[in-house]
Amino acid sequence: MTYPDGPIPGLPQEMEALFAAAAATYARYRPGLPDAAVGLLADVLRGGPSPVLLDLGTGTGQVPFALLSAGAGLTHIEAVDVSPQMLHQARQALTPVLGHCTLTLVHAAADAYEPLATLPGEPDSGPDLITFCRSYHWMNGPVVLEMADRVATPGAAVAIMGDGSLWTHGADWTHALRALIQHYLGSERRAGARRSYAEPRRSYEEDLAASAWSDVSEQSFPVSRIWTPEAVLGYLRTTSFAGSDLFAERHQAFEDEALALLQSHAVDGSLVEEATFTILLARRPGGAR
Ligand SMILES: C[S@@+](CC[C@H](N)C(=O)[O-])C[C@H]1O[C@@H](n2cnc3c(N)ncnc32)[C@H](O)[C@@H]1O
Repeated sequence: MTYPDGPIPGLPQEMEALFAAAAATYARYRPGLPDAAVGLLADVLRGGPSPVLLDLGTGTGQVPFALLSAGAGLTHIEAVDVSPQMLHQARQALTPVLGHCTLTLVHAAADAYEPLATLPGEPDSGPDLITFCRSYHWMNGPVVLEMADRVATPGAAVAIMGDGSLWTHGADWTHALRALIQHYLGSERRAGARRSYAEPRRSYEEDLAASAWSDVSEQSFPVSRIWTPEAVLGYLRTTSFAGSDLFAERHQAFEDEALALLQSHAVDGSLVEEATFTILLARRPGGAR
């Protein structure tokens, strides 16, 4: 099921438009989660009798897809996103692997998310794991962590995770690519059509330390990704720093130059990204609520 049906109150339209445009290419070009990271999250869920996942900024459903595929025993998934197009992609990806697990797609800003009320007499069980994968920076951190505390089960965990981007990566080919993007769009990193990227005011660790989720451990997973030049172009179209709308009529010219640049750096047609996928796994101290 999906709720609500209408527009989301208070959500900037440009934000929804940014992710809407990227949804189909996103499903195709964005890398998934490393197996070891999925294993860690699955272990968090496995202890409970009927594990429930709340995935905030679910995008194309990468996190629930990985956990379902890993046999984490999920009984219900609540997947929240501001973009109906992303939720559509998530439904398509998740439906074939759901089995007995139920799925609710929620068209909402995580900052404004409220769980549906349960029927009288039905058990009121919240999420055992709340995940933010490459999405926390888009949200009001303290607000979503406070909401997580309100809705989660007593022994629940929060996972804030991600792996940087080709903008921040330190290889020769990503440096050259970034310089080309800057040549077209200016030196500041863009974050959609109207905004420049702003570094978070506080680190994620500081947000967690100031929240109910102050018992934090950090796990890092090295991941080596092989890209083709064409796949890098597909990935760039999904980003807020090099999406096609930022270049307007110069997008084709940019892609032609970028392709030539990437081909000149490729070895046997491949470009290597050595990334690190990091999970901040946080619980309430002593498992308390
Ligand atoms: C970079 S994508 C990450 C998607 C997915 N978690 C993944 O790792 O592939 C960020 C997602 O967060 C969503 N998003 C951005 N701001 C949001 C907000 N305030 N509340 C809910 N979703 C949001 C976007 O629509 C997009 O699908």
